[in-house]
Amino acid sequence: MLKEPGDFAEWRSAARGLLVGGVAPDAVSWRDSEAGASLFGEEAVEASAGAVSLPRELLGIAERVICHRDAEVPARLYRIIWRAARDRQLLARTTDPDVDWLMKADKTIRRDVHKMHAFVRFRRLGEDDAGRESFAAWFEPDHRILRITAPFFQRRFYGMDWAIVTPDTRAIWQAENLSYGPGGTKSDVPDSDVVEDQWRTYYGAIFNPARVKIEAMRAEMPKKYWKNLPEAQDIAPLLAGAEARVERMRETAVSLANPLTDKWRTRVQDELLLDDDVKTLGDVARAVDHCTRCPIHCNATQAVAGEGPQSARIMFVGEQPGDQEDLQGRPFVGPAGQVLNEALEEAGIDRTRLFLTNAVKHFKFEPRGKRRLHQNPTTGEIDICRWWLDKERAFVQPELIVTLGGSALRGVTGKSASIASMRGRVHDLAGGGKLLATIHPSFLLRLPDRDRAAEERKAFVADLIRVRELAA
Ligand code: URA
Repeated sequence: MLKEPGDFAEWRSAARGLLVGGVAPDAVSWRDSEAGASLFGEEAVEASAGAVSLPRELLGIAERVICHRDAEVPARLYRIIWRAARDRQLLARTTDPDVDWLMKADKTIRRDVHKMHAFVRFRRLGEDDAGRESFAAWFEPDHRILRITAPFFQRRFYGMDWAIVTPDTRAIWQAENLSYGPGGTKSDVPDSDVVEDQWRTYYGAIFNPARVKIEAMRAEMPKKYWKNLPEAQDIAPLLAGAEARVERMRETAVSLANPLTDKWRTRVQDELLLDDDVKTLGDVARAVDHCTRCPIHCNATQAVAGEGPQSARIMFVGEQPGDQEDLQGRPFVGPAGQVLNEALEEAGIDRTRLFLTNAVKHFKFEPRGKRRLHQNPTTGEIDICRWWLDKERAFVQPELIVTLGGSALRGVTGKSASIASMRGRVHDLAGGGKLLATIHPSFLLRLPDRDRAAEERKAFVADLIRVRELAA
């Protein structure tokens, strides 16, 4: 039996000794140290480095799966590494019962981790003489995942002291040192505090009544977590007042500023987005709305994913949603979209056959009274958001990408180049497909001189005609 179930270092050291000692899985009892070879007996010699080599991926999976509560896990994992040491392709044999079990168990743990990242809520305990604040949180994960999740909280809340108490163990981050102690109970953590009120205000502010999808909410925030989530008690009243809020939103069309301090509001749930959560183009549209990889998401109403058939041969990439796109959740439906529609029509291109998207998926703006003034995304924000654009490109696989403006060009190529230097020629894209760069339609809206505007518009339509010809 492992001294601390779920402790990967302990299991690995024991398993490594057994493996190097050539002890077959059937000869080991991981549950009962009386029977079979003892884990901590003579056979458990420390392995010399490199004596047995295993696929690195397998060790990563084992580190997660050892957290599973199923008492058979240490033994099953040992059997798998025993087999993998003799069969390097084992993990690729997805119909193998051991591999199938391993992948399912890994998925279960990753889901549990994902929920813990999202649903831990800290309560403030106080601050020391130097002004360093301390916090505590109570959390009941399904599995023993505290050791693999603690580094995430360490990175995120590096500048304060905190403890996370679970029934099995507790993690303590104090004076920049991470340690573990015994598990506890809910009563070890104070009931409510000012941070809790901030969470509730935050949730109230980001709650978007126009987009309420109760089933999706339940799937993402399972009821089991509600009792420990301060904001959960507000869900019913918020839903009840939803209609009135939609009306108010329509009237003012201004997003509320987020009341949380920067420390809390940025990157609240970025790690919700696991790579393998996004398996289809539809997943992109659903998942991008949870994206908190950069701060733009804080004030936007929603993320705006690309739109159009997956089979589209041409993809148009703009900069970011504008005010109307942000409210309607669709790209190019505001004034710039109007200019684009007219130019497309003039060039003989059917918009419904295009895939239209943006380099950045949230609306970045500055509130000015009741208006929201567009702000350009930084290159850093464009580069962060490329993760989504790349996913869309991978699913659509367009033969031609048309970039509208400099931000789109950066989003697609990863390089900052002037439109003038790229326009008028067709470029090969790394990874396949062609690129044609042109101006952003909003540029035409900003030109004060009518003659110049007419001239630029003509050139824009000429670029689109080239697009049509290329597609033909
Ligand atoms: N401008 C863009 O770049 N994209 C939109 O979707 C709308 C305006």
